[in-house]
Amino acid sequence: MLLKIVSCTTLCYLATAASLGVLLLLLAVYFYAQYTLGICKSKTNMAGKTVIITGCTSGIGKETARDIAKRGARLIMACRNTDAANKLKGINIYFNVCKYMPVLCETITPEVISIDNYDTVTRANCMVMLLGEEQELIKESNNNNIIVRKLDLSLLSSVREFAEQINREENKLDVLIHNAGTAEVFRKKVTEDGLEMTMATNHYGPFLLTHLLIDLLRRSKPSRIVVVASSLYVFARVNLNNINPTTTLPGYLYYVSKYANIMFTLELARRLEGSGVTANCLHPGLMSTGIWKNVPPPMSWLVNFLLNNLCKTPEQGAQTTIHLATSEEVEGVSGKYFSDCRESSLCCGVADPSKGKKFWELSEGIVKLQPTDPKI
Ligand SMILES: NC(=O)c1ccc[n+]([C@@H]2O[C@H](COP(=O)([O-])OP(=O)(O)OC[C@H]3O[C@@H](n4cnc5c(N)ncnc54)[C@H](OP(=O)(O)O)[C@@H]3O)[C@@H](O)[C@H]2O)c1
Repeated sequence: MLLKIVSCTTLCYLATAASLGVLLLLLAVYFYAQYTLGICKSKTNMAGKTVIITGCTSGIGKETARDIAKRGARLIMACRNTDAANKLKGINIYFNVCKYMPVLCETITPEVISIDNYDTVTRANCMVMLLGEEQELIKESNNNNIIVRKLDLSLLSSVREFAEQINREENKLDVLIHNAGTAEVFRKKVTEDGLEMTMATNHYGPFLLTHLLIDLLRRSKPSRIVVVASSLYVFARVNLNNINPTTTLPGYLYYVSKYANIMFTLELARRLEGSGVTANCLHPGLMSTGIWKNVPPPMSWLVNFLLNNLCKTPEQGAQTTIHLATSEEVEGVSGKYFSDCRESSLCCGVADPSKGKKFWELSEGIVKLQPTDPKI
C-alpha cells in the first residue's frame, strides 16, 4: 500500500516536472524566435521596377505583395486563383470599369455610384467594382500599377502560357519571387503532365518558369530571383534515381521539394554568374498559413496551437523575402541561403555542386525543355 502511494506521488512529481519542462521549452522556443527575428530594414523605393510574386493570394506571398506594392513597384501577381487575386488587388477593378464607363468614372467616385440607374451590363460591372472596393492592395498602397496574371505552377502548359504573356507584355523584370508552394500529407496526386503534384508545384513549375523568363531578367540586369524554400529541407534528400516520386508519401515530398528549391537556387546562381542576375533562397520561419491546411486532425490541433502561439506572423515571415527582393545590402550577392534577413549555413549535402548539376539536367528533361527555349 505504502509502495503504491509513494509511486503514485513520484508519478505526480514526474508528470508535473515533465509538464513544466515542456512549458519551459516552448517558452524558450518562443523567446528565441522573437529574439532572432529578422526585420527588413531597407527602405528602397521600387518605383520603376517590375516584380513578379507567385502565389500571393495568402500567407507570406500576400504580405510580400503588400510591402512591394507600397514601395511603388509594378507588381505582377502570378496566381492560380485569379478571382482571389483580383479581390485582394481590389479597387483597381474600379479603373478597369472605367474602360466601360469613362464618363461616369470621371465624375463619380465608386462610393457614390447608384447602380439602379444603369443597364444590366453596366450594373454587372458596377457590382464587380463595388466588390473590389472593400479590398486592399491598391487602396492601402495607393499604387495602381498592380496586375493579376493566371499561373498554375503544377501545369507545364500554364507556366508556358503565363511566361509567353509576360514576355509579350512586359519590357522588363527586375525581381522574380518564387513564393507559391503546396503541401500534402497523405493524399497522393499526379498532375495532367504525369508529375507528382508537390514536386511539380514547388520545383518543376518554378524551374521551367525561370527558364522562360530568364532572357527578360537578363535584359533587366541587375535583377534578382528569390526562392522561398524552408529549413525543413534537412529532413529529406532528393533521390536522383527517382525524381518524379509519384508513389512516395506527399508529406515527405514537401521536404524533398524544399531541398530541391535550395539545390536549384545554388545551381542557378552558378550558371548565372557574371550575368547581372542573382539568385538566392531563404527560410521564412514557421507560421500559420494555408500551407498547413492539409494536415488532418488531431495532428492539426497541435500544429495550429504551436503555429498560432509560438511562431511568426505571416508579416514577419515575409521579411526575408522582402529583404532579398529590395535591400541594397544584398546587391550582387548570389547563391546564398538566408534566414531572418541574415545569411545562413546549409547542411545535408544540399550544396553539393555535382548533385546540383545532375538534378538540373534531370529537371530539364522532366519539364520537357525545348531546344528553342532559353538555356541557362
Ligand atoms: N508557412 C510556413 O510555416 C512556411 C515555412 C517554410 C516555408 N514556407 C514556404 O512559404 C511559401 C509560401 O507559403 P505560405 O506559407 O504563405 O502558404 P499559403 O498561404 O498556402 O500560400 C501558398 C500560395 O501558393 C499558391 N499556390 C499553391 N499551389 C499553386 C499552384 N499550383 N500554382 C500557383 N500558385 C499556387 C496558393 O494559391 P491558392 O490560393 O490558389 O492555393 C497560395 O497563394 C511556400 O513556398 C512554402 O513552402 C512556409
